[in-house]
Amino acid sequence: MRHFLTLKDYSKDELLEIIDLAIKIKKQTYNRDFVPYLNKQTLGMIFEKSSTRTRVSFETGIYQLGGVGLFLSSNDIQLGRGEPMSDTARVISRMVDMVMIRTFGHDKLEEFASFSKVPVINGLTDKYHPVQLMADYLTIKEFKKDDNLVVAYIGDGNNMANSWLLLASIIGFELRVATPKGCECDSDVIEEAYKNAKISGAKIIISNSPQDAIKDASVVTTDTWVSMGQEAQKEQKLKEFDGYLIDNDMMSLAQDDAMFLHCLPAYRGYEVSEEVFEAHSDEIFSEAENRLHAQKAIMVWLDNKRD
Ligand code: CP
Ligand code: NVA
Repeated sequence: MRHFLTLKDYSKDELLEIIDLAIKIKKQTYNRDFVPYLNKQTLGMIFEKSSTRTRVSFETGIYQLGGVGLFLSSNDIQLGRGEPMSDTARVISRMVDMVMIRTFGHDKLEEFASFSKVPVINGLTDKYHPVQLMADYLTIKEFKKDDNLVVAYIGDGNNMANSWLLLASIIGFELRVATPKGCECDSDVIEEAYKNAKISGAKIIISNSPQDAIKDASVVTTDTWVSMGQEAQKEQKLKEFDGYLIDNDMMSLAQDDAMFLHCLPAYRGYEVSEEVFEAHSDEIFSEAENRLHAQKAIMVWLDNKRD
């Protein structure tokens, strides 16, 4: 049995296999051919943080696959009143066929998975957002025909940035990450990315210069400067990101036909300008839609790996 907790646990071949499956399932969905790959299965969806995309895509996805999703907000289940993660995992995983969790510490997700009898999917932790990256990569494959990917991530060294480091270093493309000083990615993830890059041939460049990072990039991406759980640091963080807004001037340094991706929700006037956002809205909302297709593929793939 496999879990989907971080891209670190996956080989390039496995990630590409899931992407191919997502392309196939997306095509079937567009033809209104809802193949019941997960007939009668139940997906438990535990949310300790807010969500629009993750909730709607997983709930719709499992339904289209012939199963049903249970939305379990920590405000409503005993987890929110202090029942241990280990007990929650042992109860829920005896009743459902798969679990998705959105939580704070990555260790909480790992703890759940270690007690779970069924596959567990990371729906976002403070450290990683792997399902988002699968949707992002699927979107890049749809919009960019050439293989010479140069991705620039400009913003906070958060769960999205960490996940970009893993994706690029496993798949083997060029990634430039620019964060303000003090907002860098986690050092263990950077180390892991450099290690992976030696095998995959990826080029990983980490700096504090958005201009260097974006120069001639073919894909530009960012994320909110204030992630869920960091609300108290908002004022301080906003000051640190001076010069990190992706506006038309910044985008003009990238390739002329560069894509712009954003996992959403987006905060116009902070990490991205209204003009850049609207000029790239087709890419951004395809990326959001691809959450559905990529996650259906992840669920089907995990189901196939059961003992
Ligand atoms: N991108 C993303 O995960 O969105 P939600 O927080 O709305 O799920
Ligand atoms: N970095 C953001 C991503 C939201 C989808 C957060 O963790 O809030």
